[in-house]
Amino acid sequence: MRTVKDYYYKKAKKDKYPARSVYKLEEALNKYKFIRRGDSVLDLGCFPGSWSLYASEVVGEKGIVVGVDLKAADKAARAGGSEIIWLCQDIMQPELITTVRRIRPAFKVLISDLAPGTTGNRWTDHQQSMQLVRRTLELASILLHPKGNYYCKAFQGEDFPEFVQEVKEQFELVKVVKPKSSRVESREVFVLGMGFKGKQA
Ligand SMILES: C[S@@+](CC[C@H](N)C(=O)[O-])C[C@H]1O[C@@H](n2cnc3c(N)ncnc32)[C@H](O)[C@@H]1O
Repeated sequence: MRTVKDYYYKKAKKDKYPARSVYKLEEALNKYKFIRRGDSVLDLGCFPGSWSLYASEVVGEKGIVVGVDLKAADKAARAGGSEIIWLCQDIMQPELITTVRRIRPAFKVLISDLAPGTTGNRWTDHQQSMQLVRRTLELASILLHPKGNYYCKAFQGEDFPEFVQEVKEQFELVKVVKPKSSRVESREVFVLGMGFKGKQA
């Protein structure tokens, strides 16, 4: 078990975010600017809420953030931040699309920090992660505006290169990002897709 509280853990406490994962979004965003003021953002796997809180500050009062997780998150947005709507739902359920569309028919940005419960079996964990990331790409293809952006956590393994290829088919520019705040020993990386090509006929 990890006992040493690392730099990003302490920084998150100081900056009043509920999780250190916020810096995995902030770092990529500072470099690639894939969320802008006024944007609508769909955050999949949002609990305990750091990414949604940070995205809400980036988009500001004219934007909106919708966060979805199996666990209920209910943090109040910060001053100057957009409204945040927290949904307690399974992203694999088809009803999610109808629920989200009642709030916004389409989004400028889809972000995902989804992580499956781990079993300790490397192959099973990789396959479960791939199911989640494939679902996020499917949701992106249904819910993103043309030219919209996508930033999604994935765990590297056998099927990862094929997934990156699938993202390349849907977005004009694709990068695999490993933020400094992501532990070196972790197999997690983030796939950034910018410029959604639009719904395929
Ligand atoms: C690493 S945490 C997200 C941390 C969050 N980005 C933050 O900054 O506070 C991953 C989340 O994915 C959620 N999750 C996993 N599978 C899910 C599913 N099928 N539907 C919705 N949420 C799911 C978990 O409940 C967990 O809260």
